[in-house]
Parts: sequence; C-alpha cells; structure tokens
Amino acid sequence: MRTITLGYLNISEQGRKYVLDALDHNRLSRGKYTAQFEERFAELHESKHAVFCNSGTSALQIALAALRERHHYRDGDEVLVPALTFIATSNIVLQNNLTPVFLEVDPRTYNLDPSRIEERLTPRSRVILPVHLCGLPCEMDPILDLARRRGLQVLEDSAETMFARYRGRPVGSFGELGCFSTYIAHILVGGVGGLVTTKDAELATICRSLMAHGRDHIYLNIDDDDQIGDPQLEQIVKRRYNFVRLGYSYRATELEAAIALSELERWPDNIARRRQNAALLTTLLKPFEEHLQLPWIPPDTEHSFMIFPLVAREHIDRERLLLHLERRGIETRYLFPLLGQPIYQKLFPGLESEYPAARNLARQGFFIGVHPGLERVDLEFIAETFSEYFRTTLASATGPSGRLHRAASE
Ligand SMILES: Cc1ncc(COP(=O)(O)O)c(C=O)c1O
Repeated sequence: MRTITLGYLNISEQGRKYVLDALDHNRLSRGKYTAQFEERFAELHESKHAVFCNSGTSALQIALAALRERHHYRDGDEVLVPALTFIATSNIVLQNNLTPVFLEVDPRTYNLDPSRIEERLTPRSRVILPVHLCGLPCEMDPILDLARRRGLQVLEDSAETMFARYRGRPVGSFGELGCFSTYIAHILVGGVGGLVTTKDAELATICRSLMAHGRDHIYLNIDDDDQIGDPQLEQIVKRRYNFVRLGYSYRATELEAAIALSELERWPDNIARRRQNAALLTTLLKPFEEHLQLPWIPPDTEHSFMIFPLVAREHIDRERLLLHLERRGIETRYLFPLLGQPIYQKLFPGLESEYPAARNLARQGFFIGVHPGLERVDLEFIAETFSEYFRTTLASATGPSGRLHRAASE
C-alpha cells in the first residue's frame, strides 16, 4: 500500500555533492555552506541577517532571549501567542521565564485573530508572537500597527512558512526577528535546523552568541582568529574564551547547511508544486464542503502549504474519519491542539474554554500532506478516500428523514 506521507525527502545530486565536499574538506563547524545558506535565505526573506542553528525551537528560544536582553524584560513579563499552535511556540516563552498569554484564533485562517489582541494586553505585555501556521502568513498590518502604538516587539514564528508574502512582503521580514525550521516534513528540509532572520546586526550577533554558550562576539567562528595580525590577535586570544551571557549549545553543522542550501536552490519549484497540489486537492474536495472546511487564502496573501489543513464540520466524527484515512495509508495529524495538551492543562487549568474557536479547531481540525512528492494520482486517491467515507459512513447514519444523526455515527 502506498503511504501518503505528511512530509517528503528527495535529496538532490547537488545536495549529495555539497555534503561530500564538506566531508572532503574535513569541515563540520560553521563554514562556507552555512554562510551561503544564511546569506541566500536572508535575501529571500528580505532580512539583512539569517542565523542558522540546530532547530526551529532553538531559533525561537534565542530570538526571544535576545529581545529579552535588548529590551530588559523581567521574569513574568508577557508574550502574546496564539491559542492554537505547535507547542514549541509557547514552551520557549516559559523557558525564557516569561508568561505566555494566549490569543483567540481566526476560524477561517487558523492564525491568530488580530482583533482579539487588544483585549489581552496588560501593562506587562512585551511581545506579540504571531505564528504563520501551515504555510499561511498572519494578517500582519493590524499586528504591526498595534505593536507600534503600544510599544511592543514582534517576533514571528514562521517554522511552518517560507517564501510566502503578505501584501508583497515575505514572512520573517515583519518583526524584529523571524524564526524558521528546516526540520523533516517542513517546507525546506535540511535534517534538523532552524534560522533566525533580522535586519538588526546587534540582535543577530546576540543570537550567534546565545547559540554558542553566550560567547564573546569577538570569536563566534573557528575562522575568526585566522590570518589576523597583532594587535587584533592579542585581543582575540584574550577574549575568545569569555562568556558574556547565559547561552545554549544550539549550533548546527555544515552537513545540515549543505543539504538545506541545495534545497534552497530549488525553492521555486518546491513552492510551485505545493501550490499546484493544494489547488488541485481543493478542487477535488470541493464537493465535500458540507462535511469539510477547506483552506481559505485571504486576499493579498500567499500560501506556501507546508501541509493541507482541514476541519471536519460539526456533524462529522473526526476520530472515525481519521482512522478511515490512516487505514488506507493517508497520514494525518491533529491541527495543533495546545491548551488541551496534558502538560498545558496542568499548567493552565480550565483555560481552554476561554478560546472556543481554538478549541473547536483543536477538536475538529487535522492536516494531511500536500508536498511536491505527491502526484495527481495520490491527490485523486485522497479525494476518493474521503468520498468513500462520506458515502458509506454517512449513508448508514442517515435516518428516515434524511437528516444526519450524530449519535448513529458514533
Ligand atoms: C509553529 C512551529 N513552531 C516551532 C516549531 C519547532 O521547530 P523544530 O521542530 O525545528 O524545533 C515547529 C515545528 O514543527 C512549528 O510547527
């Protein structure tokens, strides 16, 4: 049985060449592949700097720590995060000794609803952390406007979105910092990996220091003490083993950068295939709109479709539907339940009920793959599998009046 996976890996000839070249040069620590990857990624996301580290979570953690240092936040200051996201988004707030304050989401885009931010602001609010979920940029203008008016910083979690533009500008270029992931099953896969983008040289340097144990910026690469004469060499020797802030060990290697760079070189094809697949799947699933909410793309916004999100309408038993798909080889995941996670229920008891839109999406939402490895025949198979479920299960659950009886389908 063919599996319709959530993600996809197809390392190119160029990728293999780059990895072998890194090995031939006996070079694993930051070198030319990391530097090139960072430079091109930054350019494509209209940022001056990109800092490559070992995961999207690490990127978020050091980006928030850099903001914390720059703006002198205190323990317990508040960071506004959507109530529907992958758990890492809000974990890193807690891990920075700050307090996540959750925001209601838009039931059509699944991203945070900008009109619901103001009601959650307090004198301790410091950062808005919008998450561009599934490949779709958030509605950034009202977020940026509010942040400006209230003196807040914006940090974008773009782990699920690359190359997409909102009103002509790419994700990762709106906030003081943006964070991305190159983990398996993301848009651009390098193995493990993450990036922080910023236009601010000082913030980039703080991030580089934070990912290397908090090291003095005079020595953040092993090449920094090469071919340097006195008196700089004397300075470097004196300071290169200085640690000036509490840091982490979040460096990646040239091997991940080499693969990621080879993928970056073919990004237009990657994104075009995702958009084509998503458009075809949307057309094929249109007949089932009474049972499924399909992705919606707001005007002036591009979607990169890391994944294809769906929401089962209220009369549909999501668990039974997902089991039907899984049994036929179609991989599924829930649409990022957060406040209902066992650990979050413990940390924030009872909070989920304050966010009915997020709660409904967490209960009825799910996603499937839409990556470039899928062919037309796969997408037709997906549509046929949904059709089969609605035809058989719902027909047997339809009572004499022709209306669906939820109880009968359970
Ligand atoms: C929204 C979001 N933020 C952060 C992350 C963390 O990225 P990583 O897995 O590279 O640590 C993910 C990863 O799946 C994500 O989906």
